[in-house]
Amino acid sequence: MAKVLKNLRFFIHTFGCQMNENDSERIAGILTRAGAQKSNGLEESEIIIINTCAVREKSEEKLYSYLGRLASLKVRKKVIIGVVGCVAQLYRLKLLEKKPFIDFVLGPDNYDKLPQILSDDLGEKFISTTWCRKWHEVPPEVILRENSVSAYVPIMEGCNNFCSYCIVPFTRGREKYRPLRNIIHEIRFLAKEGFKEIQLLGQNVNSYVDPETGKNFSTLLREVNRVDGIKWVRFITSHPKNLTFDIAQAMKETEKTCHQLHLPLQSGSSSVLKRMNREYTKEEFLEKVRFLREFMPEINLSTDIIVGFPGETEKEFRETLAILKEIRFANIFSFRYSPRPLTAASRVENDVPFEEKKRRLIEVQQLQKELQLGKHKTFIGQVMRALCMGKSKKDHQLFSGRNEGYQVVNFRSSKAQEKLIGQFVNVLITGCGPYSLYGEERDSC
Ligand code: SAH
Ligand code: SF4
Ligand code: F3S
Repeated sequence: MAKVLKNLRFFIHTFGCQMNENDSERIAGILTRAGAQKSNGLEESEIIIINTCAVREKSEEKLYSYLGRLASLKVRKKVIIGVVGCVAQLYRLKLLEKKPFIDFVLGPDNYDKLPQILSDDLGEKFISTTWCRKWHEVPPEVILRENSVSAYVPIMEGCNNFCSYCIVPFTRGREKYRPLRNIIHEIRFLAKEGFKEIQLLGQNVNSYVDPETGKNFSTLLREVNRVDGIKWVRFITSHPKNLTFDIAQAMKETEKTCHQLHLPLQSGSSSVLKRMNREYTKEEFLEKVRFLREFMPEINLSTDIIVGFPGETEKEFRETLAILKEIRFANIFSFRYSPRPLTAASRVENDVPFEEKKRRLIEVQQLQKELQLGKHKTFIGQVMRALCMGKSKKDHQLFSGRNEGYQVVNFRSSKAQEKLIGQFVNVLITGCGPYSLYGEERDSC
C-alpha cells in the first residue's frame, strides 16, 4: 500500500457510542497504513477528523461547539477538517453550507475513501455518504486500538426497526451483517495479541444472520466461545423483541459469555412502548427478564430509559419508576426525549414541557442511584474476580477493572501495573458508591 499520507499527523475526536469508538479505531488504522501518524492533540495535527453522533439534539450541539473551536484553529493554522459518522450521514451538503471551513464529509460506509481524498488536492470540498450493502473489512492487524485488554468487534450494523423516536435507521441504514468467518478471524487475531475480552457490537446484535451460512446469533456465540485465549465475551445492543430463549440458552452454555446484558426498556408503560413502536409490552419485557434470571440467576441487567416521550402522562411515567423498582437493573442510562429529524415521533407534538422532563429524569436517576447503592452494599465483604483495565482515572493510587457483571471495581494493590493490567484479579470488596465498587487485591487468578 502506497504511503500517500507520509509526514501528516492526524487527530480524531469521537462522540457517541461504542460503534463510533470502534469506527475511529478503524479510521486511525486506515490512515496509519497510508503513512500518516496519530498525534497527541489538535495543535500537532494536519488532519482533524470528528466522528459524530446524532442520537439526541445535545449530541449535535456538542459537535457544533467543538466545531466552533476548530474554526478559530483553522484561521491560525493549515489543517484539513473532516466530519464523519452519523451527523455527516444525516446532513451531508447542509453541513458544508453551515460550516464552510469543513473540508470533507463522510458517512459511516465511506471510510475506505480517506487516503484517496486526503492525498488529493483538497482545494475542492469532498462529500460521500453513499450506502454500501457489503461489509467493508479493515484487516485486524491494521486497526489501531485504544485499549489493549478489551476489544470491540462489530458483527452487524444498521437497524430495521424504526422506533418512532430514533434517528439511527437514517444514519446507519438498514441492517447488514458481517460474515462470521471474518468475525472469527478477527477474534483469533485478538487472542494472539493478548486481548482478554471482546465486545461484539451492532445496533441489534440479536438479529444477526451470517450472510454466508445463515447461522444465527446463538451459533455465533457458540463459535466465538471456541476461540482459545479470549476469556470474556460481551455484546451490545440487544433489542428485547429479538432476545429469545435460544439466546439465553447459548449465553448460559458458553462459559466465556459474561452473565451481563444491556436490554433497553425505554419505558415501563405498554401504551408508551406502543407509541414508541418497540413491539413488546411491559409484560413481555418482564417475561424476558424472568427467563434470563431463571437461566442465569446472577445475571446483571442494564437498560436505557427515555422520559417525557410525547404524550407521556404522569401515570405512564410512574409505571417506569415501578418497573425499575421491580427489575432492579444494575445500571441504567436515562435520557430526556429529544425530537429528531425524519423520525415518526418528531411529527407529533413534543408536549411534555422541558421542566417536567427534567423533573422526571431527576426522579428516575435518584431512584436508580438508591437502588444501585443498596445493591452495591450487599457486595461488601465478598471477594470478586475483576479484569484489570489500567490505573483509575480519578485516583492514580488505584487500579480500575470490571467484574463479570460489568461493574467498575477500583482496587488497591502493591503490584506494579505491568503485572496487573490485562490480568484477572481477586478483589475483596471493602466499600462502594452508587456507580462503583472499591476494594483490595487478594491474589491474582
Ligand atoms: N440500538 C442502538 C441504540 C442507540 S441509541 C445502539 O445501541 O446502537 C441509545 C439510546 O439512546 C436508546 O436506547 C434510547 O434510550 C436513547 N435515545 C434514542 N433516541 C432518542 C431520542 N430521540 N431522545 C432521547 N433518547 C433517545
Ligand atoms: Fe450516535 Fe446512534 Fe450513531 Fe451511535 S449509531 S453514533 S448512538 S446516532
Ligand atoms: Fe434505534 Fe430502535 Fe433501532 S432504538 S437503533 S430504531 S432498535
